[in-house]
Amino acid sequence: MSFNSFGRLFRFTTWGESHGPALGAVVDGCPPGIALSEEDIQPWLDKRRPGTNRFTTQRREPDQVRILSGVFEGKTTGTPISLMIENVDQRSKDYSNVALAYRPGHADYAYDAKYGFRDYRGGGRSSARETAARVAAGAVARAVIPQVRIRAWVESIGGDRIDYDAFEDAQIDANPFFCPDAAAAERWEAIVDSARKSGSSVGAVVACEATGVPAGWGAPLYAKLDSELASACMSINAVKGFEIGDGFAAAALTGEQNADPMRAGNGGPRFLANHAGGIAGGIATGQPVTMRVAFKPTSSILTPVDTITRTGEETQIATKGRHDPCVGIRGVPVVEAMVALVLADQALLHRGQCG
Ligand SMILES: Cc1cc2nc3c(=O)[nH]c(=O)nc-3n(C[C@H](O)[C@H](O)[C@H](O)COP(=O)(O)O)c2cc1C
Repeated sequence: MSFNSFGRLFRFTTWGESHGPALGAVVDGCPPGIALSEEDIQPWLDKRRPGTNRFTTQRREPDQVRILSGVFEGKTTGTPISLMIENVDQRSKDYSNVALAYRPGHADYAYDAKYGFRDYRGGGRSSARETAARVAAGAVARAVIPQVRIRAWVESIGGDRIDYDAFEDAQIDANPFFCPDAAAAERWEAIVDSARKSGSSVGAVVACEATGVPAGWGAPLYAKLDSELASACMSINAVKGFEIGDGFAAAALTGEQNADPMRAGNGGPRFLANHAGGIAGGIATGQPVTMRVAFKPTSSILTPVDTITRTGEETQIATKGRHDPCVGIRGVPVVEAMVALVLADQALLHRGQCG
């Protein structure tokens, strides 16, 4: 009923709020004997960490992870793995106006409507600080499925899209936008700078590809690999759309154009296209699993927006505090983490049923 957990066999629960002393995750169901240390988790958190450049929020969090349980002599023990990250740079006074009035587009009103009570400091549990815990748990998931490579990048910002002919894998980590196209990254500097300086925000599309997913992972009908991935990605803050493979564009194709023709290859089929995004009937085909995730523009903007107070009076709110001008950028490691968490779960489920 409370829905702070995700996964079936490889299951994680996150806890904590934006302005509490710490937040974290408990990963349950991780197989024993897997090499795991804080050094395996930290690099992924460093990718998501705020305050590393001017294009993200200036909240400065070291996001240092501690493993509190479930690992002994460098190996997982099969017991719950508890991960903790301290919050060190909270400024609760920035949120005094949020205590009185609802930020349109944020979760303030919805939380009040549900619980009749909310921690307004930094958005409390609805803050994307929570996604740090997902990224930590995702690093454990990666250790469970080392044969799978999961790579995400930003495909467009504010509607300005990369040129896939200029795609360079090495570029993704070479600029602050996780952008594989160097020319697009230059354009995005101006787009995000302009949004930041005017106190506005822009949306983004994150693309993700998982290679090395064996044919057979996934399930028919009610735990389809694509529906699990959609559920995982749609659970990320500010995500408003999800596509698998060609997604919505497939609806404009003919059956011939959308086919993924097969030929005999060495040791298995060779596919000539991948419109389906590596999944058929809810089950992986062995092709790269490809998806796209749409992030809305950050709702916290400096322009005053019409809203109401908790007691129903009409007013306006301009959101002060430190905010990401484009949340999709820091969404990249979060998407990767959620994909890893789904795939680790599916790997164990597949082993459970099919050996
Ligand atoms: C990495 C990341 C950082 C975010 N940072 C902010 C932020 O600085 N300010 C803000 O208003 N929303 C931010 N968000 C989005 C909110 O958390 C989100 O809009 C809010 O919880 C309401 O949920 P919804 O947009 O999914 O409906 C961020 C989201 C992500 C993924």
